[in-house]
Amino acid sequence: MRKWIVAGNWKMNNTIDESVALARTVKEGTAGLKNGEVVVAPPFTALQSVREILTGSTVAIAAQNMYFEDKGAYTGEVSPLMLKDAGCTYVIIGHSERRKYFVESEETVNLKVKKALATGLKPIVCVGETDGERNKGITEAVVNRQVRGALDGIDKLDDVVIAYEPVWAIGTGLVATPPQAEDVHDFIRRLLVEIYGCAAADVRILYGGSVTKDNITELIAMEDIDGALVGGASLKADGFLGIISKMP
Ligand code: 13P
Repeated sequence: MRKWIVAGNWKMNNTIDESVALARTVKEGTAGLKNGEVVVAPPFTALQSVREILTGSTVAIAAQNMYFEDKGAYTGEVSPLMLKDAGCTYVIIGHSERRKYFVESEETVNLKVKKALATGLKPIVCVGETDGERNKGITEAVVNRQVRGALDGIDKLDDVVIAYEPVWAIGTGLVATPPQAEDVHDFIRRLLVEIYGCAAADVRILYGGSVTKDNITELIAMEDIDGALVGGASLKADGFLGIISKMP
C-alpha cells in the first residue's frame, strides 16, 4: 500500500515571515495526520526558519533544487549537505521550470538524483511533456526519456518519488483530466516495473499541474496517482489544507 504525499512547491515566493506564517498554519492543520505525508518546499532563504516551526510536526521539508557537489567554488549553488543541515528530507529535482529557464539537461538531473540519494535526501523527480509534445503524440517518448535519463545508474527506488507534471498544466488552470493523468502514471509505473521489477509497485508517483481542492478528489481516485505536487494552491493555507483534507 503506497502512502500518499501532498507536497507544496512554493517556488520563488514568500519572505521568511510569510513562510513561517504559512508553515505554522500547515503544521496546525495537519496535526495528528497519519494516513499520508505532507511536504513543503520553501525557498532556500526560509528553510531554517520553516524547520524551526515544523520541528515536532509531521510535515517534512523539501528543497526546490540542489547542486550535485558537496561544496566548493560553485558560486550561487546550494549543496545537498547544506540542505540536510537545514532540515530537508526531500529535494525536488528536474522541475520543468529548471529544465526550461536554467537549461537543466537529462545528465544534470541524473547527477543530482544520484547525489541526493548518496546524501540521504529523497529526490522528487519531475517529468512531463510540453503541449507541443503532447500534440505531436510523443508524450510517452518524452516521459520515457526523462525517467530513464533521471534514473540512469540508480539501482534502488526505495527513496525515489516521481512527479508527473505536464508542462501545459503548470500554472495554467488547465489540469489534466484524471484519465489523461492516469494514462501517463500507468505508463511510468510499467516503465519502472520493466527496469526495476516488482519493487516499482511501491514507488509514489505524484501528479502536478493546476491541482486544487476542487479537482484533487478525482485525480487521487486513479490507481497510479499517489498524491500531488502543488504550486499555486500551496501558497495559501486554506487551498493547501483543502487538498490534504480530500486525501483518502
Ligand atoms: P501549479 O500547481 O501552480 O500548476 O504548479 C505545479 C507545479 O509546478 C508544482 O511543482
